[in-house]
Amino acid sequence: MRHLLSTGDLSLTEAEAILDVAEEMQQVQTRPVKKLPTLRGRTIVNMFFEDSTRTRTSFEIAGKWLSADTINVSAKGSSTSKGESLRDTMLTLDAMGVDAFVIRHSSSGAVAQAAGWVRAHVVNAGDGQHEHPTQALLDAYAIRRHFRALGREGWQGKRIAIVGDLLHSRVVRSNVLLQRTLGAEIVLVAPPTLLPTGVESWGCEVTSDFDSVLEGVDVAMMLRVQRERMAGGFFPTAREYADGYGLSLERLNRLKPGAAICHPGPMNRGVEISSEAADAANSLVLDQVAAGVAVRMSVLYHLLGGSDEGETA
Ligand code: NCD
Repeated sequence: MRHLLSTGDLSLTEAEAILDVAEEMQQVQTRPVKKLPTLRGRTIVNMFFEDSTRTRTSFEIAGKWLSADTINVSAKGSSTSKGESLRDTMLTLDAMGVDAFVIRHSSSGAVAQAAGWVRAHVVNAGDGQHEHPTQALLDAYAIRRHFRALGREGWQGKRIAIVGDLLHSRVVRSNVLLQRTLGAEIVLVAPPTLLPTGVESWGCEVTSDFDSVLEGVDVAMMLRVQRERMAGGFFPTAREYADGYGLSLERLNRLKPGAAICHPGPMNRGVEISSEAADAANSLVLDQVAAGVAVRMSVLYHLLGGSDEGETA
């Protein structure tokens, strides 16, 4: 694996290998000394041209726990704020000899484009409204652990509802592509104004009636209403959105026993998810965050730890 740009590029074997190695990596999280020598001598540059709390921090922690040298570059404070093009910034850093770039960019497709310019490995940490592959992998990881603990492991026959602002979400695209490979069934739920064009061709069931799917799903994955990407009025008020598409206490109580609640964060409590649902016993929100470090360690290991790359684990 040279780059991780899209979950659609992962075979079943590759996706499962990332999740399996993440299990090993998660053990490091509970140790007093959180350090493996695996990527010693490697340099990873985290380039975040868009705001982020958990993705940036967890990529940085993941790199550090694997003993790589990690450097953070943001648009503010780099020469991009002086008008340097993304290409020139990438070529400049690549010329320094870095081993991998982790890139978040507000333009869909920018990360794949950047991968074509550099010699280093590239990980897509979210590009516009396109994809966020490590988010989908960590979602799968947290969901798999949840059902394993209940003695109900396996993707076949699992039904995952992905609910909310699908139009502006890169998380939904990466999840649909990954689940196409892993094998769970996906039902997409959104108001008609927040359904992406061409969604019928994604191979998922699509509905605008959240209440009609509640009892039948194993996972309710709630997506953030991405106001920063909305130019116009996609719904009348936050209150009306919550009435139709929020995971309220009443809807929470209608989910099957053991159904998992996911949200990639940051959450708008009271809009797409109520506090009761976010903090419920079967909410995986913090498990997803914890999984983020382990899954990103695994991804960095798969890209940089191979035997063709010199020093290995
Ligand atoms: C997601 C993102 O940035 O795409 N969040 C994340 O990475 N944890 C989803 C979101 O911003 O709503």
